[in-house]
Amino acid sequence: MRHLMSPLDLSVEELNNLLDLAQDIEAHREKYSHACSGKTLATLFYEPSTRTRLSHEAAMLNLGGNTMGFSSADSSSASKGESVADTIRTVSCYADIAAMRHPKEGAPMVASANSPIPIINAGDGGHQHPTQTLTDLLTIRSLKGRLDNLTIGLCGDLKFGRTVHSLIQALVRYTGIRFVLISPEELRLPDYIRQDVLDKENVPYTEVVRLEEALPELDILYMTRVQKERFFNEDDYVRMKDFYILDKQKMKLAPEDMYVLHPLPRVNEISVEVDEDPRAAYFKQVQYGVYVRMALILTLLEIKVD
Ligand code: NCD
Repeated sequence: MRHLMSPLDLSVEELNNLLDLAQDIEAHREKYSHACSGKTLATLFYEPSTRTRLSHEAAMLNLGGNTMGFSSADSSSASKGESVADTIRTVSCYADIAAMRHPKEGAPMVASANSPIPIINAGDGGHQHPTQTLTDLLTIRSLKGRLDNLTIGLCGDLKFGRTVHSLIQALVRYTGIRFVLISPEELRLPDYIRQDVLDKENVPYTEVVRLEEALPELDILYMTRVQKERFFNEDDYVRMKDFYILDKQKMKLAPEDMYVLHPLPRVNEISVEVDEDPRAAYFKQVQYGVYVRMALILTLLEIKVD
């Protein structure tokens, strides 16, 4: 039984195979349109989502399967006090695979330990978001043609941004990766990622506060939203929320072949005027998110299409 809790649950070889499969799906969609016929995906979302929930559902529907689920804790028996373990035992009677998002770090892991069906971590608190990472890797590989020898700028809320934590874990396994960590002092990358991942793997990185300083040297700029829901105090959020605003003026400092990614939702950190810049790749990234989740569902269900 395979689950996906963190990007490290896939070896580099498996990851590359999965990205190859996603690219084949993009090129030959009709070939996969009945691959999951008779299978059901459950989306168990205890926290808000637009892209992650709908893209998992779109992925299963594109594969000819069915979907069911809930989109808030309030509309499930969690509001009556049911445990994640009991919920997953129940859902496994109805579905063949489940994607779970939860505000508590580790909740999908608890589900997987009690589950007879594959569980996909669709984001657990400020911890991990492996399917966003698969999306990010497919986007980078499609646009830049490689996942090695890249300078990646990660900008914004590096403390609470789970997409950043998962992306770093996945990318350090490729050679020639360098990070520029761009954040205010209060939102720096947590020590558990800095020490246990970057330092341990001897991955070069610099930390800067000013985005302008980093821009000229980047191959990829990965923007993130300040994670309002993880702040303990509203004043701190208000102080931080508009710390970075990427606009046309700043884009002039960036190389012609640098792409801007963002897991979305965007708040103010990318001005809408940047959307028309050919280097703005965040909506393409949304499309790649469907192909990669189709590939993931096939992989976890061990379904092969010839
Ligand atoms: C991200 C998340 O939920 O962590 N969104 C997403 O899944 N695409 C990023 C965010 O909410 O800021």
